[in-house]
Amino acid sequence: MGTKKKDNIREKKMNISILIYNLFHNRFSIQMLKLEIAASKKKTKLKDCTIVNAGKSNTISLGEKGILNGIRFFLLGDNNHIAIGDNALCRGSYQQPICINAGYGTSITIGDDVLIANNTEFHTTDYHGIIDTQTGEVLNPSNSIVIGNRCWIGLRAVVLKGTNLPDDTVVGACSVVNKEFPNSGTIIAGNPGREVRTGIKVGDLTNNKQ
Ligand SMILES: CC(C)(COP(=O)(O)OP(=O)(O)OC[C@H]1O[C@@H](n2cnc3c(N)ncnc32)[C@H](O)[C@@H]1OP(=O)(O)O)[C@@H](O)C(=O)NCCC(=O)NCCS
Repeated sequence: MGTKKKDNIREKKMNISILIYNLFHNRFSIQMLKLEIAASKKKTKLKDCTIVNAGKSNTISLGEKGILNGIRFFLLGDNNHIAIGDNALCRGSYQQPICINAGYGTSITIGDDVLIANNTEFHTTDYHGIIDTQTGEVLNPSNSIVIGNRCWIGLRAVVLKGTNLPDDTVVGACSVVNKEFPNSGTIIAGNPGREVRTGIKVGDLTNNKQ
């Protein structure tokens, strides 16, 4: 799709402010969450998705033509942003969800044409600090996550704070990734995730015949 056409679609995004009960910070208050969904002909479909918004000035932005099933969005603290690009296929379910958690002023930015399997988790924060007893420094600050275009995140993979995956990255099942990977077109697998194969791209669903 040309950039101009894409820009037009993006301009048509709706800005919906919805009221969400704040479970954590202000137990009995109601917070506004800015939710943008691309308003093109091919709307993104959401099924069995939930949002917990525990802070202020948090946003979720969703591209067009997505199929988003079983995502649990969690925004903890203020100024967190979650964005998913166009054509996302997120294969969670109510029983086997995809957890996308941004906390303490961080963002999770997921590109276009991504495939995210069930039981995967994304966390920009460790939720508890680890303090250096000598200096008092926090050793594990929260950090944003970036997932490039055409990435495939396999079953039960865990994506931790500071992860940056370039375009065309595959993350193997049950892998744990927690850092920036420089090369596009790789398979990252294991715990901790390491490059196990280079020079790849993800095919479509019919490309897996023997
Ligand atoms: C990542 C994956 C697609 C790679 O498949 P493949 O190209 O056939 O890769 P191979 O099995 O040849 O593995 C290459 C190497 O990576 C290792 N590896 C592959 N997947 C791994 C994983 N999930 N964890 C740890 N190591 C892994 C292999 O042991 C092998 O290591 P070696 O070279 O030392 O023997 C596959 O292993 C996988 O994880 N599939 C799950 C897909 C999924 O989640 N589907 C859900 C539908 S959305």
